[in-house]
Amino acid sequence: MGDNEPGLVHMTHHDDPIYAVSIGGSILVPGDDDLSYIQALTEVLKKVAQTKRLIIVVGGGKLARNYQSMARGLGAGNTFLDEIGIAATRLNAKLLMSGLGHLCHPIVVETLDEAAEAIRDSRIIVAGGTHPGHTTDAVTAMMAEKLRADVFINATSVDGVYTSDPNKDPEAKRIETISYAKLLEIVAPYAGKPGANVVMDPLAVKVLARSKMTSYVVKGRDLDNLKLALEGSTDVHGTVINPD
Ligand code: UTP
Repeated sequence: MGDNEPGLVHMTHHDDPIYAVSIGGSILVPGDDDLSYIQALTEVLKKVAQTKRLIIVVGGGKLARNYQSMARGLGAGNTFLDEIGIAATRLNAKLLMSGLGHLCHPIVVETLDEAAEAIRDSRIIVAGGTHPGHTTDAVTAMMAEKLRADVFINATSVDGVYTSDPNKDPEAKRIETISYAKLLEIVAPYAGKPGANVVMDPLAVKVLARSKMTSYVVKGRDLDNLKLALEGSTDVHGTVINPD
């Protein structure tokens, strides 16, 4: 891994680990006690940010899907639908940011370059989407790679990677540990359609694999457990993805 990239010199002076967290819109604003959940989540993030730097990327959730489906009905094409999704992710990002106070970079980060710059001075940076064609999982993975994060956490609506979709298949079983190659097989059928739902975007899986990142998939609404993952505990309930 090249260590001579512009901007990285300053960063190597910080010893605190960097954790990159993909927060699904489906867990942030599903319409179920969202304010108290977000309040509790911001408390956890602020506490963790005392000892770690955090890259938080927020998904579009219902807002994205609702607007995308109306825009589709009005005749919009895929790239335009993705752009609507990105706008939704950034609105959700701004909502989460409202509760993060002075530890947080005050602007929703829109590009990888902005992320690299913002992490130099802020304990927490918050982003939504960046470009059409992928999801916020992929954005998180790319920011994690570029900013040399130590750990990637996917805080999502399911409590790990399953052998098949647990919402559709009652026989689906949770997998405790998995390799990137195996995970890629599970998520490969994902077509990349605007608003599509899969446990992890295949692009995110590929980026995390090549940067040999340790990753976790956890249920984001289970805050005690998400906190364990953020604290680097080995007792996390979810799926661990090992780099080798
Ligand atoms: P996500 O799929 O990342 O959010 O973005 P989500 O649906 O909240 O994620 P989960 O499933 O709960 O974890 C919503 C939509 O925004 C567009 C895509 O259309 C995506 O489906 N998007 C998002 C982009 O086109 N580019 C991005 O960088 C991010």
